[in-house]
Amino acid sequence: MEIFETSIPELELINRGKVRDLYSIDDLILMIATDRLSAFDVVFPDPIPDKGRVLAQLSIFWFRMLEDLVPNHIVETDVDKFPPVLKKHRQILKDRSMLVKRARPLAIECIVRGYITGSGWKDYLKTGSVCGIRLPEGLKESDKLPEPIFTPSTKAELGLHDENISLDQAAEIVGKETFEEVSQLSLEIYKHAAEYALSKGIIIADTKFEFGFIDSRLCLIDEVLTPDSSRFWPLDSYEPGRPQQSFDKQFVRDYLESIDWDKTPPAPHLPPDIIKKTRQRYLDAYRRLTGQELK
Ligand SMILES: Nc1ncnc2c1ncn2[C@@H]1O[C@H](COP(=O)(O)OP(=O)(O)OP(=O)(O)O)[C@@H](O)[C@H]1O
Ligand SMILES: [Mg+2]
Repeated sequence: MEIFETSIPELELINRGKVRDLYSIDDLILMIATDRLSAFDVVFPDPIPDKGRVLAQLSIFWFRMLEDLVPNHIVETDVDKFPPVLKKHRQILKDRSMLVKRARPLAIECIVRGYITGSGWKDYLKTGSVCGIRLPEGLKESDKLPEPIFTPSTKAELGLHDENISLDQAAEIVGKETFEEVSQLSLEIYKHAAEYALSKGIIIADTKFEFGFIDSRLCLIDEVLTPDSSRFWPLDSYEPGRPQQSFDKQFVRDYLESIDWDKTPPAPHLPPDIIKKTRQRYLDAYRRLTGQELK
């Protein structure tokens, strides 16, 4: 079943993000990953079948793997154990939703880059640095960095784009102590996950984490290490000096660059072939990383 948008009249809708619908339930949040696709921060009118389930199941997979490194917001992922009020929505919720603890999200996005690409590559070409971090000279596009780097960005309001900020700016926004903690944690989590993914033939070029305080404890929240929040590259065709084929939305982005669309809403409909290939990429990333077929 494809889900573009949910409606749960029994609960209060807290937020309809680009991809996730969040509802308030008792003192928890019901977080539902829909099949919406966003690219260039614009939501597309056509859902990508199975995308929401891939995002939810892959996040759950990583949250569990990383549990010893970092606490997370998950309370329940089994729809049959959700509160009775949700019983009649079971079909919609199944495999794409979780009950999570309500967090106070930090006002920065915690990005880690192990390879130089995307906005990092653009900044490097202009300044030789990313977020004020000086990088070696002569790097080629998609090169592996000597060490992964923490490159925070702002969390933009709806309709605006996130912007890279310096480490000092990030420390000012979240406070020095919290900054130290999230930068260290982000790098540790990235290193652990990247090593695992590499053993499955996938390079995690970069990724974005979100952290929030639950009570007074810093926890990993939102989604984690999915094709929406990360660039996954197949190891077997990796070659620096050019952009890489990837499992993320790059494929859709390339298509969008090839048509006459100015990247402002409304987004155009996607051809069935592009939808189909995008779906396959999400499923393929899931299969390779977890070694399982999606339920
Ligand atoms: N445990 C949590 N407590 C509170 N908010 C959360 C929690 N986990 C995730 N969120 C928030 O839920 C939203 C997820 O929805 P979605 O990913 O669709 O948003 P988005 O369009 O990417 O917007 P954003 O730029 O805010 O991430 C995010 O705003 C995220 O910060
Ligand atoms: Mg998001």
